[in-house]
Amino acid sequence: MELSILINRFNIKGRLVSLQPFGNGNINDTFLAIYRNTFTETQVILQRVNQKVFPRPEVIMANMHEITKHCHEKLEADAAKGSDDRVWQMPRIIKAKDSTDYVKDENGEVWRVITRIMSAHAFDIAQGPEHAMECGATLGHFHYLISDMDPSTIQDPLPGFHITSGYLANYDRTLETDGARELLGASMEAKRLAKFIEERRDLALCLEQAEKRGELVKRMFHGDPKVNNIMIDDVTGKGTAMIDLDTVSPGLIHLDFGDALRSICNPVGEEETNLAKVVFDEDLCTAFCKGYMREAGAFLTDADRAYLYDSIRLLPFELGLRFFQDYLNGNVYFKTTQPEQNLNRARVQFRLCESVEARERSIREVLKRL
Ligand SMILES: Nc1ncnc2c1ncn2[C@@H]1O[C@H](COP(=O)(O)OP(=O)(O)O)[C@@H](O)[C@H]1O
Ligand SMILES: [Mg+2]
Repeated sequence: MELSILINRFNIKGRLVSLQPFGNGNINDTFLAIYRNTFTETQVILQRVNQKVFPRPEVIMANMHEITKHCHEKLEADAAKGSDDRVWQMPRIIKAKDSTDYVKDENGEVWRVITRIMSAHAFDIAQGPEHAMECGATLGHFHYLISDMDPSTIQDPLPGFHITSGYLANYDRTLETDGARELLGASMEAKRLAKFIEERRDLALCLEQAEKRGELVKRMFHGDPKVNNIMIDDVTGKGTAMIDLDTVSPGLIHLDFGDALRSICNPVGEEETNLAKVVFDEDLCTAFCKGYMREAGAFLTDADRAYLYDSIRLLPFELGLRFFQDYLNGNVYFKTTQPEQNLNRARVQFRLCESVEARERSIREVLKRL
């Protein structure tokens, strides 16, 4: 079906004047649609939900309905008080003409339309400490917004996601295969990474065990809080919205905290081949933590705070473990353009983990002061 015919099934006022691919997402297909009438224009985002990643798109849309409803009620109540230094935003679902939240095309693909956050951009890498601080504030505020949601209104969008013990078990199964044995036998570097993992089995389980002991409690978390999903206001430079809500679900907020820092504090990115350049940037970390605590500090418990450092160390380890497992398993999960790419991605994440470990004392100091 032509996209312009498809989008016509949604309830948007005005005449469609432009419909173009948009943004740098790598999961869903995203388009910007511009509608005009005699006195203004409306810009909306059209997205096709990726069913390879989210096999139950109806669940994703039902979740999005609950999340945006809850957060918009809270946003409006807070805006009426007028005590914030900015207008916090969140996209809204624009319904189809038949009043449903999405449209299914003739191939069973699920399409949705949401409002565009205007005069704002998401960057692909951290721009400096001020930007990092705004990223922290935006994630912290998002955690505040979803902190009192009823988790039972949300269905699991991605079973097994971020369960480190599950990834470790998967890795152990892969180690038993002939393919993995061969790769490990042939490469000193692969052997070194396997040893790196063996030395950190405790780390892999630290958050899960804290949860089992009842020290940490699952709240709602974002699931994909990378810089590219944090919208920054073009006019003020302040964070204004978290987007990409597909993975929002019950989980430890530590996973978001660690994952955001993992991506923000590694300015050279995940594909760097020169390990000497992979350094955990403490200035960006400090700035992010300041912004985060300003917005989320009020509802974090002492136990929540006690595990923040562990989460910063754990998330690069977890991702490195997943890259390495995929390398040993023949690169079936993460897309690659050359056979050693997942090995190298694992090296980068493990180096980042080591770099966090080397800075443990000063990172803990910063967290204590906030
Ligand atoms: N509501 C929105 N307002 C403005 N830009 C958006 C909005 N939703 C998505 N985008 C842009 O499209 C990109 C991809 O969308 P996203 O929901 O993050 O999909 P993906 O899961 O593919 O990353 C974002 O990085 C952002 O640049
Ligand atoms: Mg995204």
